[in-house]
Amino acid sequence: VTVAPETLVESAFHKPVLAAAVAAWAAGTARAVDATVGGGGHAALLVAGRERPQLLALDRDAEALNAARARLGSDDITYLHAPFASPQALSAITAFHPDRILLDLGVSSYQIDRMDRGFTFRPGAPLDMRMTGDQGETAADLLNQAEAEDLERWFREFADETPGPARKLAKEIVRRRGNQAFRVSDDLVNAIRAVLGKRSGPADFARLFQAVRIAVNGEMDQLARALPAMRDALVPGGSLAVITYHSGEDRMVKHQFREWARSCICPPKQPVCTCRGRPLGKVVTPRGVKPDAAEVAGNPRARSARLRIFQVPA
Ligand SMILES: C[S@@+](CC[C@H](N)C(=O)[O-])C[C@H]1O[C@@H](n2cnc3c(N)ncnc32)[C@H](O)[C@@H]1O
Repeated sequence: VTVAPETLVESAFHKPVLAAAVAAWAAGTARAVDATVGGGGHAALLVAGRERPQLLALDRDAEALNAARARLGSDDITYLHAPFASPQALSAITAFHPDRILLDLGVSSYQIDRMDRGFTFRPGAPLDMRMTGDQGETAADLLNQAEAEDLERWFREFADETPGPARKLAKEIVRRRGNQAFRVSDDLVNAIRAVLGKRSGPADFARLFQAVRIAVNGEMDQLARALPAMRDALVPGGSLAVITYHSGEDRMVKHQFREWARSCICPPKQPVCTCRGRPLGKVVTPRGVKPDAAEVAGNPRARSARLRIFQVPA
């Protein structure tokens, strides 16, 4: 299904989270990268400064890029359709010499609302969840083929499920697919209900569907590969801002930023320092920035958001 870009703009594609904090961070930028431009909500803030900056806008989802282009136009903006950790994206980002790079991870409200993209647990949605159109394995493929150990690990690491239920759910999926292949959202919802019981509801479905989505799109791998390359692409004094939506992602960003900020990363008992011996920059937001209650009330998607910023030396 193709949706006219104008419709997307009018339908409030996606409310940008932590907009005030992102706008404050973006102030004064001359060359910014929005590596997850989505509907262009944050990008509109990035280009809103008095001196309109150059913007490089990426998304792995062609529909999102179309929506951003319809909203922001093409003056001073370069659009690139690629996963942000792909070699093509990372070399374009490096060649751009940015002073700001933004990552607003996960999916947009628009993607979740589109039944045919299969991110939703609403009844009858196909188990698809691929952000990059029709390339690669779908959620149904993974649920029908993955080893039980992998399913269990995804539920633990990407949905914060406790070990017992994570293992039971993985086993239940393997048992059910032996009778009938997973095809639509209801198949996964029913497996979750069978394991978590009557108390399970939309919050559990959202969490466990998210785990499958992260696996389908290799999202942790994308993040792990992108972070150091993006830091290296920044011009002196530049900064990298990352908004995460679950604890696994946030942990990765927090640990990575902390490690970069240390002057020595040699093993504790090593007598002489043989590592880089200097910090690579500083953590601007040691505790991360969370949305306030008013923002969460107006935008439930913001509930789990956390912004962390790292700045390289001037
Ligand atoms: C939370 S939305 C971004 C919303 C955007 N900040 C706004 O205000 O409109 C995340 C976007 O990132 C894209 N995305 C997720 N992972 C990506 C990746 N590895 N490479 C490129 N785009 C990615 C998704 O397709 C989605 O459009």
